[in-house]
Amino acid sequence: MADLEQRQSWGTRLGLILAMAGNAVGLGNFWRFPYQLGKWGGGAFLIPYFAALFLLGIPLMWIEWTMGRHGGKYGHGTEGPMVYLMARTSVGPRAAAIWAGIAGMLALGVTILLNSYYLHIVGWTLGYAYLSATGGYMDKTVSTGAYFVNYIQSPGLVMTFWVITLALLGIAVARGVSGGIEKWVSVMMPTLYVICIILIIRVLTLGAPVKPEWSTIKGLDYIWHPDWSKITFQSALAAAGQIFFTLSLGMGIINNYASYLKPDDDVVLSGFATVSLNEFAEVVLGGTIALPIAYAYMGPDGMGAGVGLSFISLPNIFRDMPGGQIWGALWFLLLFFAGYTSAIAMYNYLVALLEEDLKIKRTVASILVFLAYIAAGLPVALEPILTKTADLAYLTELDNWIGSYFLVVLGLVEVVVAAWLFVDSKTKKPALWDEMMRGSFWPTLGKWWFHVVMRWITPIYIVVLLVGTTINYYKDGYLKLVPSFVEKTPALIPWVNGARIVLLAVFILGFVEAYMTIKNKYADEIKQNKVLLEK
Ligand code: PHE
Repeated sequence: MADLEQRQSWGTRLGLILAMAGNAVGLGNFWRFPYQLGKWGGGAFLIPYFAALFLLGIPLMWIEWTMGRHGGKYGHGTEGPMVYLMARTSVGPRAAAIWAGIAGMLALGVTILLNSYYLHIVGWTLGYAYLSATGGYMDKTVSTGAYFVNYIQSPGLVMTFWVITLALLGIAVARGVSGGIEKWVSVMMPTLYVICIILIIRVLTLGAPVKPEWSTIKGLDYIWHPDWSKITFQSALAAAGQIFFTLSLGMGIINNYASYLKPDDDVVLSGFATVSLNEFAEVVLGGTIALPIAYAYMGPDGMGAGVGLSFISLPNIFRDMPGGQIWGALWFLLLFFAGYTSAIAMYNYLVALLEEDLKIKRTVASILVFLAYIAAGLPVALEPILTKTADLAYLTELDNWIGSYFLVVLGLVEVVVAAWLFVDSKTKKPALWDEMMRGSFWPTLGKWWFHVVMRWITPIYIVVLLVGTTINYYKDGYLKLVPSFVEKTPALIPWVNGARIVLLAVFILGFVEAYMTIKNKYADEIKQNKVLLEK
C-alpha cells in the first residue's frame, strides 16, 4: 500500500470542487460556447445541447470520476493504467494492456497537443487584458481584425505572454496538488465568478446603445428562444461536441484530478456539482456576456461572428463603450482565469505521468513539461510569424483532430471499458455501479442510469457523434492529403503536414509509454495473464 500512503490528495472538499470546476470552466465556456450558440441559431442549439448534457455529459463525468478514484487507489493518475485496471477484470491483463496503450495514446495526444495551442490562446487573453488596460487597440484607424493579425504576427507580444502563462502554470503545479493547484484555483475561481457578475451587470444595463431594437435583452431573447424547426443533425453534432469540450471529457484530466481522492470519497454528488458549476458558468454566465453585447452593438449580424467573437468583435465594441478599456481588461482577464485553471489540469496530467511512470521528482517534472509545451507550442507561434498569414493552419489541423475528434474516441473507450469490460472478479457481473456508488452522497440515484444510460444510450450516442463527424470531415475535405482549407494557400501545406506528423509521433509515444508502464508494473499479471493484485 506504499503507493496509497505517498499519493497526494486534495486539502478540502471545497478545494477539490473548485479545482474540478476550474478544470471544466475554460475558454470553452466564455468563448467557444457563445460563438457556437450564435452560429447554430441560438435556441435551436440549446435543445440538442441539453440532451447531450444529460445523455453524454453527466454519465461520462461520473465514469471519469469513478475511473480516476479507482486508479488513484493503485497509485495511478493517468488514463493508460486506469483503463488497464478496469479492463483486465474481463478481457485479462494482456488484452487490457492494449486497451491501456490506446487510451494512453489518446490522452497523451490531448494533454500535449490540445494544450499546446490552448496555451497560446490563454497567452493571447493575457496579452489582450494588458492591451485593453493600456488602450492598445483603442485607436480606431486600425480595424480590430487587422490588430489581431498584427498581434499574432508579433513575436515579442506572442512569446512574452505565452511564456508568462506557462511559467505561472509550472510554478503552481510544481508545488503539488493541494499546495499548488488547489491554492491557485481557490483564489482564481471565486474571482472569476465575481468578474462574471460585474460584467453581466454591465451587459444588462447597457440598454440599446446603437438602435432601439438592438437591446441586450433582445439579444438574450434571441439566444433563449428555442426554435425546434432550426434543429438539424449538424447542430446536434456541434452541441454534443461542445458538451465534451466544455466538461473536459475524453481528455484524461477529470480522471487525473479524481485520482487524488481517497477510496471512499464521494464521486456522484461531486461529479454532479462539477457539471452544475460548469453549466452555470456556461449557459447562464457565458451566455449572458459576449452574445448580448454583440447583439446590442451589431444586431443579429453579430451572432455569426464565429471564432472572431472574443478577439475581434468584442474589442471593436469596447472601443465604443464608455469605460471600454476597463471592460475589455475585465473580459480578457476573465478568459485568462478560465483558461489558466483548465490548462493547469493538463499540465498536471503530464507531471503525474512523469512522476508515477518514470519516477521523476515533481519539481523536475514540472520543468520538463514546461519545456515540452514550449517545443509543442512553437509551431503554433511561428506559423503566422514566418508565413505572414493568419490562417493558423497548424492550429486548425490539430484542433480538428484533437480538440473535436479524438477526445470523443477516448470517451468511447472509457464507456466501453468502464460500463462493459469492468466486472467483479468473482461474480463476473458489471462492477461500475457499485464502484461508483461507494461513499456516494446521493445514495438514492436510480440504477437505470447505469442499465439504460451508461451502458446503452451514452455509447450509442458517441458512436453516432463519431460517424456524423467523420462524414462531415469527409465532406469538408479534412481527410484529403491536402485538406480543403489550405488548398489555396500552398505555403501552409507543410504546416498541416507538420501537425499530422507531430500528432502521429505523440500517439506512438503515448501508446508505447502506457503499454510499457503496464508491462513493467504488472509484469507478473501480464506473464500469467491473470488478475493478481486487487485493492
Ligand atoms: N473544459 C475546458 C474548456 O472549456 C477544456 C480544456 C481543458 C481545454 C484543459 C484545454 C485544456 O476550456
